Amino acid sequence: MKQVLVAGATGYLGRHVVAAFHDRGFTVRALARTPENLSAPGRFLAPAVNDLADEVFKGEITRPETLQGVCDGVDVVFSSIGITRQRDGLSFMEVDYQGNRHLLDRALAAGVTKFIFVSVFKADHLPHLAPARERFVAELKQTGLDYAILRPTSYFSDMTAYLEMARAGRVFLLGDGQHRINPIHGADLAQRCVDAVHEDSREIAVGGPASYCHADIARLAFAVWRRPVKMTKLPVGTIRLLVRLMRPFSPQCHAMANFFATVLQQDFVAPPCGSKMLGPYFAAMAAALTPATPVAGEGNRSAARSIT
Ligand SMILES: NC(=O)c1ccc[n+]([C@@H]2O[C@H](COP(=O)([O-])OP(=O)(O)OC[C@H]3O[C@@H](n4cnc5c(N)ncnc54)[C@H](OP(=O)(O)O)[C@@H]3O)[C@@H](O)[C@H]2O)c1
Repeated sequence: MKQVLVAGATGYLGRHVVAAFHDRGFTVRALARTPENLSAPGRFLAPAVNDLADEVFKGEITRPETLQGVCDGVDVVFSSIGITRQRDGLSFMEVDYQGNRHLLDRALAAGVTKFIFVSVFKADHLPHLAPARERFVAELKQTGLDYAILRPTSYFSDMTAYLEMARAGRVFLLGDGQHRINPIHGADLAQRCVDAVHEDSREIAVGGPASYCHADIARLAFAVWRRPVKMTKLPVGTIRLLVRLMRPFSPQCHAMANFFATVLQQDFVAPPCGSKMLGPYFAAMAAALTPATPVAGEGNRSAARSIT
């Protein structure tokens, strides 16, 4: 039986990955800076995983002294650690690059056989998309260690931004909202991450089973809330300018805004994987947010449309 270390086990994807490795018979060690968080369900309907992990290792990836022994006895390291919504005052370079580098150094010292890392679809071709993660990827490739880089398009968790806007009554689209994306459920992506243990492919671009244009995702969100469709198209040029102006004031916010602006301004469709659809996920999220509210599933197009 193989032993795997899951770094990022308290996050949206990491929780699903702990569950997937557990289900496939791996011995799972979960790395967490706040182990108590593993016991409760995560945001975006991600599962509680404390009972699915065989061991929990308390460590802080940005403080290498806390990682002593973290990879001992481990065959495979998986990491999805990175900044998404965290507000710790740390930069992407400190966490996504340097933190994962600390983990890689431990993995090399412990004789781990494979390192599985989650970066971003197209980030190998678009240097500004995820520079800190790609710097890590470049160094991982230099080590001679066997590796796999998962390159997902976007997660269902991120699509909840549309659900929140629709709930508030209006969705703001970048441009005409016609670019397509195939977001993936964490559980589907987690299966792909586990498959990577035994695969020869080292670069794995992956998206969900269905692609949607952003305006359709917005319509799906309005349908779930049974609200009239109201969308505002934001001019691409203005948004680009605002993103650029943000840079001197907050490099971190600029990087985040630049990421989303880039993703929304082009088709982001990767080879499809998994079976979970966005409509039922939106319905489940809406039910979790307001248990008393009746919800409709994917395909409900009855709401009136008003696109401005
Ligand atoms: N979301 C997307 O649509 C998307 C698309 C493509 C690729 N990705 C990549 O996938 C990765 C994982 O996404 P996710 O949605 O699972 O993110 P998430 O839910 O925010 O989970 C991130 C994980 O990293 C940990 N982490 C963050 N900052 C840390 C710090 N300073 N020190 C130690 N641990 C820290 C978090 O720990 P705590 O729980 O303690 O904060 C959590 O376990 C992202 O970093 C991103 O690059 C995401």
